[in-house]
Amino acid sequence: MHSDHEIPPISNAIEPFITLEQFILEQEDRFPHSTGAFSRLLRDLSVAAKIINRNIRRAGLLDIVGEVGTVNVQGEMQKKLDVIAERELERALRKGGECCLIGSEEQPETIPINQNRETKERYAIFFDPLDGSSNTDVNASVGTIFSIYHLPEEYEPAHVLDVALQPGTQQVAAGYVAYGSSTMFVYTTGDGVNGFTLDPSIGEFLLSHPNVRIPSTPQMYSINEADFDDFDASLQAYLRWLKRRNPETGARIRSRYIGAFVSDFHRNLLTGGIYMYPATAASPEGKLRLMYEANPMALIVEQAGGAASTGSKRILDLAPTDLHQRVPLFIGSRSLVEKAEAFLRGEGEA
Ligand code: AHG
Ligand code: MN
Ligand code: MN
Repeated sequence: MHSDHEIPPISNAIEPFITLEQFILEQEDRFPHSTGAFSRLLRDLSVAAKIINRNIRRAGLLDIVGEVGTVNVQGEMQKKLDVIAERELERALRKGGECCLIGSEEQPETIPINQNRETKERYAIFFDPLDGSSNTDVNASVGTIFSIYHLPEEYEPAHVLDVALQPGTQQVAAGYVAYGSSTMFVYTTGDGVNGFTLDPSIGEFLLSHPNVRIPSTPQMYSINEADFDDFDASLQAYLRWLKRRNPETGARIRSRYIGAFVSDFHRNLLTGGIYMYPATAASPEGKLRLMYEANPMALIVEQAGGAASTGSKRILDLAPTDLHQRVPLFIGSRSLVEKAEAFLRGEGEA
């Protein structure tokens, strides 16, 4: 024990580290699906993440905060940083040359790119360039989310969306970048989840969270509870159940809601918990989008030992029909997601 006046030693020595790029290259040796092209694709995404990070970190100093004055296909006002993040991702993926199709929250349709390149490996990437972008105006956390699929070697260009829109189980990889008190790149290729923290002094993402597992004892629940009166009675009952004291330990779960899915998800992934964006009267399909919000996070959470559901169905099994389709989402610790499903079936406890 240290006295009140004695500060315990804090080591700031840099441990032997592994960079994201080194880690990706090591995966190439271990897994046949991790080809050079796939490694370059992840590298392109990490470069875009660093550039987006640079903009976010200086946002208050430059004229990049606030709205552009345009509305995206979702009917939402675009923030300047939404547009900047979208542009940087598209630029990095065009330059890298490995991605053949982009689907973005900020674009009404998918965008074919690098069409003339001779390659057998064709990738489609869906992304939410800046998630929780209303937080940029108030210096709170935001994120980027991405989801990667293979495209077939041959397809009719006019019908590319038919082959690109695959169930989440078919994702080759998925990840997010959390621009929080530090910046983290978290991703999975279906072999567990690994998290890398950006060391700004050397401009590299370094492995800081190997093999992330969501804790089995949940600590947090996250939902926009201002919508409570709009929720179904079964969901209201579940929320009351979440608020009760654990009869054995007397402990109570805590409520946290930042209003940026990436940040709320990331915290709950590390602490254990559940994030919910259910259907409401105003959003009968929920708010979050299947292709670039729910599916990638569902793959990550399952790979970390958790679960993701619409309330009745596994997210990853859904057959998508539209680039921007929305889904109700219950995601996090398996026990809490299953409990939510039970309540929504009318089988919850009183
Ligand atoms: P985006 O900024 O990409 O449109 O996403 C915003 C989403 C999500 O990040 C967040 O959890 C949710 O909207 C918050 O919505 P409410 O304000 O309705 O709670
Ligand atoms: Mn979003
Ligand atoms: Mn967004």
